Amino acid sequence: MAPSLLRRYSMKLLGVLASHGGSNLQAILDACAMGRINARVAVVISNNGNALALERARQAGVPVAVINGKTHPDDTLRDQALCGKFRSHGVEIIALAGYMKRLGSDTLNHYRGKILNVHPALLPKFGGQGMYGHYVHEAVLAAGEIETGATIHLVDEVYDHGAIVAQARVPVLKDDTAATIAARVLVAEHRLYVETLAAWCRQ
Ligand code: GRF
Repeated sequence: MAPSLLRRYSMKLLGVLASHGGSNLQAILDACAMGRINARVAVVISNNGNALALERARQAGVPVAVINGKTHPDDTLRDQALCGKFRSHGVEIIALAGYMKRLGSDTLNHYRGKILNVHPALLPKFGGQGMYGHYVHEAVLAAGEIETGATIHLVDEVYDHGAIVAQARVPVLKDDTAATIAARVLVAEHRLYVETLAAWCRQ
């Protein structure tokens, strides 16, 4: 069999969860398209029907779904719908990319050890409930840190708590604001997420 076909056969199927802009999703889509990650994004799910992430997925020809408290008011049924959607697309690894909701027990149990999240700081520092977006970078500045970074970790029942898989360090500079740190960290997130998924998809 031709090597390109062999590679395609061993390709992993990824599911991505994203709530907003989806720049991490875009980095993953681009890396899959370029063959840097031996995988295909099989479906993108958002809780936010207006997320730019959904448009990015559509542009790449990836199926999308919106699952939230309006489409599924009951917590258990919502979790089952999410897990069912991933399973129906054959998803093997789930990547959270700026996803603002907690996962339910069906999804966590079915995909345990196969769900990754990216956090814009060096966990276990600056994580947990309420630590997202600019709040993280403001806390880093307020603490007088000289470095911050990006963390990829496994997802479990507790926010930002699962085992750390990879980290990238980013300096905090003298005149930094939360916005300048966020921009620098985001570049590191994209690189780290692609490297981590590439390694996972080689296994
Ligand atoms: C990233 O900083 C990520 O670490 C955090 O939310 C942001 C999402 O950015 N969880 P994007 O939607 O991937 O552009």
